[in-house]
Amino acid sequence: MKISIIGAGYVGLVTGVGLASVGHEVFCVDVNEEKVKKINSGISPIYEKDLDKLLKKASSKKLISATSDLKSAVLNSDITFITVPTPSQNDGGIDLSFIKKISHQIGIALLQKNKYHLIVVKSTVVPETTQDIVIPLIEKYSKKNVGQFGVCMNPEFLREGGAVYDFMNPDRIVIGQLDKKSGDKLAEVYKNFKTDILRTSLNNAEMIKYTNNALLATLISFSNEIANICQQTPGTDAFEVLKGVHLDKRFNPILNNKRVNPNFLTYLWPGCGFGGSCFPKDVKALAAFAKKKNYNPLILSAVLDVNKKQPLQLSSLAEKNLGTLENKKIAVLGLAFKPNTDDTRESPAISLIKELISKKAKVSVYDPIVNSNNIKSPLSGLNFKFANSLDDAIKGKDACLLVTSWQEFKNITPELLKNGTKNPLLIDGRGFFDKKEFEGKTNYLPIGKNINKKNIQTS
Ligand code: UDX
Ligand code: UDX
Repeated sequence: MKISIIGAGYVGLVTGVGLASVGHEVFCVDVNEEKVKKINSGISPIYEKDLDKLLKKASSKKLISATSDLKSAVLNSDITFITVPTPSQNDGGIDLSFIKKISHQIGIALLQKNKYHLIVVKSTVVPETTQDIVIPLIEKYSKKNVGQFGVCMNPEFLREGGAVYDFMNPDRIVIGQLDKKSGDKLAEVYKNFKTDILRTSLNNAEMIKYTNNALLATLISFSNEIANICQQTPGTDAFEVLKGVHLDKRFNPILNNKRVNPNFLTYLWPGCGFGGSCFPKDVKALAAFAKKKNYNPLILSAVLDVNKKQPLQLSSLAEKNLGTLENKKIAVLGLAFKPNTDDTRESPAISLIKELISKKAKVSVYDPIVNSNNIKSPLSGLNFKFANSLDDAIKGKDACLLVTSWQEFKNITPELLKNGTKNPLLIDGRGFFDKKEFEGKTNYLPIGKNINKKNIQTS
């Protein structure tokens, strides 16, 4: 099939390359000429594992191209996916300005087309967006009634850093459909993918995406709340507590004498907060949507409240143990919101760095990938410096705060920590280190564990 995709970002480009890989002819549309040029020269404008390889392969078969001309792409295709951003507004509500703009432009394009055309909303949009915003705009500008064109809502479940894998190996395909004809046409697009296909309403498809992300975010904030209670309770260790919970056979069944260990358990684990371009935005948008529907989302609000404060658990632990943060040399380990990505959007490290600076600490930051040359959302005006190696980050510090579980940080040893400073504090914001390696040899302090002063080995 001929498919146009409006918005060639993480979601749009991965979707385009994935569909071209199974034989569809794909036209990526983007306002960013730079991106258009790069895609047409077979170079991916974003880093995602295997994306470059698949893009080159699809390009060589002339199955993918890019343009900034939306109208021609729509007219030359049978199906159009919408994958433009749906960022947060200041009040946390969803910003649908790009969705509206693109729906308008697609409507104008369809004015000149008589053949049936399917529009598929893939951007993450709150329930009722497709039916109340996208369809009326396309009807208005195409001068056609819905039904003369088809509409589906097809949420994406792509994780950054694993987006190509997730697209090529879907665990489900959710097809929200205006009508059977629309749904059948979209199911045809995905016929090469062997997985569960759920056919449902447009609103349900929109709600499935938000519910999915909000549940994962809730698991994280729940685990962090347990950690914060443990931090106040001598003799408890939140990581031990959650390991105990992970053994509940309803969460972690025993099959043929082996534990299934479902992936969701890795979200039921304490940390210093969730980040990224999805969880924070999506939970805020769902909460704001609920309020618009005159429902007060108590749990979603609490998930956001816990998450907002969680990074500051690290700075308050450091302050408690150092007495003050003023003029203390602090290393923040990790800036990306999660390992194996260069994305710092809503990273917990950002609010932690701001807090440390406000307490007049001397902050250095080390991240294996993100540095002053490639940081995308610059931490403008923040007075900290980038360390250019792990050793450089740790040397001579009063405390090291681990925020992101980069594999490189496994190289940290008590000996390395003592390099240059008598006995720095290592605060583990992710339960990343093996405590047996550090306890008794250095001031190792994981979140979620109550270690009162007397247990801290004096230097
Ligand atoms: C975005 C949203 O963030 C996500 O919620 C939604 O599910 C899919 O789209 P992502 O692909 O990560 O996800 O966004 P981004 O990487 O910012 O890419 C969006 C692309 O759309 C950019 O390349 C941008 O140039 C392009 N764009 C944006 C258009 O082509 N036209 C527009 O009007 C706006
Ligand atoms: C998320 C969803 O996983 C994906 O299905 C959806 O399409 C987009 O949003 P993403 O934000 O890219 O994807 O990555 P994810 O790996 O889920 O990380 C989100 C947050 O959860 C991060 O802050 C990360 O630190 C945290 N996380 C992730 C955990 O706490 N545990 C994990 O095992 C994985």
